[in-house]
Amino acid sequence: MQELQQILDQALQQFAVIGDETELEQVKAKFLGKEGSLTALLKGLGKLSAEERPAAGARINQVKQGIEAALQQRRDALQQNKLAQKLAAESLDVTLPGRGMCAGGLHPVTRTLERIEQLFHSLGFATASGPEIESDFYNFTALNIPENHPARAMHDTFYIDPQHVLRTHTSPVQVRYMEANQPPLKIISAGRVYRVDSDATHSPMFHQVEGLWVDETISFANLKGVVQDFLQRFFERDDLQVRFRPSFFPFTEPSAEMDMSWNGGWLEIGGCGMVHPNVLKHVNIDSEKYLGFAFGLGVERLAMLRYGVSDLRQFYESDLRFLKQFN
Ligand code: FA5
Repeated sequence: MQELQQILDQALQQFAVIGDETELEQVKAKFLGKEGSLTALLKGLGKLSAEERPAAGARINQVKQGIEAALQQRRDALQQNKLAQKLAAESLDVTLPGRGMCAGGLHPVTRTLERIEQLFHSLGFATASGPEIESDFYNFTALNIPENHPARAMHDTFYIDPQHVLRTHTSPVQVRYMEANQPPLKIISAGRVYRVDSDATHSPMFHQVEGLWVDETISFANLKGVVQDFLQRFFERDDLQVRFRPSFFPFTEPSAEMDMSWNGGWLEIGGCGMVHPNVLKHVNIDSEKYLGFAFGLGVERLAMLRYGVSDLRQFYESDLRFLKQFN
């Protein structure tokens, strides 16, 4: 009986300090396994007398149950512990705010182009386009700028080969469109153009919007009206100041440059004029019957003015701090 009490005490003591389930099962075997101390006592029951046996058997069973209960209790505690540790390690604070979606935005020059096109569409202009790698013929010759003409020096040109250039303006689209279509014609054409140029108001790649309206009764007054109306709506200002300054382009006569009030002075935003009879002749349009006006606007210049940007090269530096302001 004494031995039984010792076994129970030992088991309870040992179980209490075990921190791991595998070890617990090993220690269990020391008491309840085939070679275990309690099993040995059970085996010894046969040696007792018939009178002693029932009481001893009952006591052994009691101790066995005690050990099993303690074992189960320890097992449960260890499992609880393990679960608590796992939960702590994998804890997730579902109340934290999300990381948020960073929405992109259109480039300010793209937004400006879209706005320009939308405004001209509302004035009844259709859209035309032409290639960025242009032949010398369309970029210059057909626009009344023959080879060796000093006007070629007005544009610092990127040559691909002696016959091909990166177009220096959108005016070649006028020629291509007039070749393929008969008047009345009323189009704009927006796109990239290239020049060997770089300062605060010039970049080597920039955008122009070309306008062309050819019909029987088109005059310089129509040109001024369309440009003025467009600019006032573009800048949402009825009092906007626009200046037409006499100028020279080989493909228009008379010609003018258009300036807008800016920073207390004027900023040139485009060129314009009445389509030169020689250009109409090149595309077989009767210059006695038809008249037309054309203009070419610098898109980055308009974007600069609309958004208050002082150096247009910033549009192309890909600095997100700058670009995000326009989202
Ligand atoms: C022309 O390119 C003519 N084709 C415009 C034209 C069309 C005249 C139809 C008559 C009839 P100009 O070289 O001035 O003209 O350029 C037009 C506009 O493009 C300029 O007023 C300016 O706003 C813009 N521009 C010119 N060079 C640059 C540049 N390097 N960077 C940004 N904008 C420029």
